Amino acid sequence: MPCNPEPPINLGLFADSELQQPPRIEVLGPQSRVLRGFARPWVERLLPSLDSVLAAAPFRHMLTPGGFSMSVALSSCGKLGWTTDRSGYRYSAIDPQSQQPWPAMPEVFRELAEAAAQAAGFNGFDPDSCLINCYRPGAKMSLHQDKNERDYSAPIVSLSLGLPAIFLFGGLQRRDPSQRVPLLHGDVVVWGGVDRLRYHGVLPLKDGNHAELGGQRINLTFRHAG
Ligand code: SIN
Ligand code: FE2
Repeated sequence: MPCNPEPPINLGLFADSELQQPPRIEVLGPQSRVLRGFARPWVERLLPSLDSVLAAAPFRHMLTPGGFSMSVALSSCGKLGWTTDRSGYRYSAIDPQSQQPWPAMPEVFRELAEAAAQAAGFNGFDPDSCLINCYRPGAKMSLHQDKNERDYSAPIVSLSLGLPAIFLFGGLQRRDPSQRVPLLHGDVVVWGGVDRLRYHGVLPLKDGNHAELGGQRINLTFRHAG
């Protein structure tokens, strides 16, 4: 896979510094929260499932509608996967690379996403799509809104794994100022309701080596898309 995990991503334990920090909730906006370390209890079960998903649907660099190759490598699981190519951004039930349905969403992914949504005040989250983003050093995600979903009533639940990144959380207009939010392994960001269409992005990833995931950051973004 182009965004290859080195060393293998299912190694297990947390760094001591991460264990010392109890989960805490930070307020980004009226209906947006950072749940610090929220995913720690799930990570050990989650990484082998992530390996299985990526074996069936490997990371690939997709083309934007403008014809540029995205610096972030993507995969998906669940009923619908987000894709982009020369004809636009969309959700598809079929992986365009394998021409097969995307791998099923592992139960542990769903459990984590529902629990995180609930902790941020969104009950009954029912994700049908998990976009998996892989950032190598230098990869970034420009400011954008998540707008390809059928409706915006469900929140976005976004899990960070591996190397730290700076997440930009802006306003409802592109020109609004952005908060710079450092995201670490195990952190979850949830935004929905009045904050559902806030602009967001990720600054270019800094070089580094994460104890479990090596030289990369993996982001899992759960949505109800269809
Ligand atoms: C996204 O907006 O799809 C990704 C956000 C992230 O990588 O934290
Ligand atoms: Fe996004």
